[in-house]
Amino acid sequence: MKEQKSANVTWHDHKVDRKQRENLLKQKGVVLWFTGLSGSGKSTIANEVAYKLQKMGKITYVLDGDNIRHGLNKDLGFSEEDRNENIRRISEVANLFADAGIITITAFISPYRKYRNFCRNLVGDNRFIEIYTKASLKTCEKRDPKGLYKKARAGEIKHFTGIDDPYEEPEKAEITLDTDVVNVEEGAEIVIQKIHEYGII
Ligand code: ADX
Repeated sequence: MKEQKSANVTWHDHKVDRKQRENLLKQKGVVLWFTGLSGSGKSTIANEVAYKLQKMGKITYVLDGDNIRHGLNKDLGFSEEDRNENIRRISEVANLFADAGIITITAFISPYRKYRNFCRNLVGDNRFIEIYTKASLKTCEKRDPKGLYKKARAGEIKHFTGIDDPYEEPEKAEITLDTDVVNVEEGAEIVIQKIHEYGII
């Protein structure tokens, strides 16, 4: 993890806190952290969950790997160091969004367990739900929505997750969606059901 470089900075508590914002919004600020291979359904299910929650009158925000890499993290590539910096920044952003009282939904491959746990520890266990979209490499390759697996197999993309770069499966995900079997609608419904059980909505 990065060390703090700035000296002489002091943390301030603010007059309006998370509890007050949550009371106003009538919801709990949390992070729903999707993780899984490219093409495993993270973004698609994350979007469906956001859509369902919106219809229920809940405020959500989706932070998505491909989108964030166009702006905030456009200076980062796919080395282990850059992927970890990607996840570190997103963890900090997601934590701020959750603190704002928003149901924050992230969709990043986030291949390294250590950095997913960094976010869990930052946000706090009771506000962090890890959702593993589990699909076989075979299925992801067959879907290949962006044609990237094809390029990776052809050697045109190096260090592609699942091909020549690692993915560490979660050991304690709150929710595992086997997207070889479960479709988008069913997956989103399972997530909604679970977060209801956890008292988030
Ligand atoms: S992460 O590993 O740092 O969490 P992130 O979720 O932000 O990855 O971005 C993954 C997306 O970038 C993939 O869905 C894919 O579209 C694209 N991509 C481009 N190159 C790679 C690569 N080498 N490995 C994985 N995904 C890649």
